[in-house]
Amino acid sequence: MMPFFDMHLHILPGIDDGAKDLEESMKMLSMEQEQGICCLCATPHFHIHGTVGRHKVFEAYTKLRLMMEKSFPRMRLYLGQEIMYFPGITDALDSGEALTMNSSRYVLLEFLPDETYKTVYGGVQKLVRSGYIPILAHVERLDCLMKHRQYMDELKAMYIPFQMNTTSLTGISPAAHRCRQLLTDGYVDLLGTDAHGSSRRPPDFSHAAQWIIRHCGKDMLVKLACENPSAILNDKLISF
Ligand SMILES: [Fe+2]
Repeated sequence: MMPFFDMHLHILPGIDDGAKDLEESMKMLSMEQEQGICCLCATPHFHIHGTVGRHKVFEAYTKLRLMMEKSFPRMRLYLGQEIMYFPGITDALDSGEALTMNSSRYVLLEFLPDETYKTVYGGVQKLVRSGYIPILAHVERLDCLMKHRQYMDELKAMYIPFQMNTTSLTGISPAAHRCRQLLTDGYVDLLGTDAHGSSRRPPDFSHAAQWIIRHCGKDMLVKLACENPSAILNDKLISF
C-alpha cells in the first residue's frame, strides 16, 4: 500500500486542545494506521498568547515518538506547528520559537476564518519575503477566499500551497460540495485530518480518500497525500 501522510493533526499528548495524554495519542496512531497513514506531521497550535513553550513541545514529541517506534515500528512521526498569524511571526520562526514543518521552509499558517484578504495576503507576502513558504491551513475556512475565487488564484500564482481538512470533503452540505469542487478544480495541494483526539474530532482520512479515488483518480490522492507531503517534509518544491 502507498505510504500516506497526515500533515495536520493535534496528536502530541497534553500540549494543546488535541490528545489529552499519551494513551489518547497512541489510540490516534492506531486509527491512523488502520486507514493507511504511515507518516504524520504533528502540528500543535502556536498562538503568540497562550501556547506552551517549545521545550514542552519537543518533550511531548520525543515521548510519543519513542512509544510509537515500539508499538508502530513502520510509522514515522515528524514535527511542525500550526501557527496562528501574528505580525511578529517571522521573528518567532527565525528564532526557532515557532516551528516550521520538519525544519523545512514550509510553515502551516492559520488565519481567523473572518480575516480580511488584505491581512491574509500581507501575511503570506511577509513570510515569502523572509524565505518561508506558507501553507494555508484548512483553506476552506477562510471566508475571504471562499467568496472570491480571484483571491485564491492570486495566491496560487505565488505558489502558495493550500491544505484542506479531509473531513471537509465528506457529507452533503453545500460547504462539502464546494470543497469537493475546489479539489476537483485543482486548488488543493495537501490533506490533513486536523484530528484532535480519539473520540472528539478523531482522524478520518479514509472517507475523503475513497471519494478522491472514485471521482478524481488514484493519482490525485497520491499527489495530495503522498508526493506533496513528502516533498514538503524534505524541503523540496511541490508540484502545482
Ligand atoms: Fe489544526
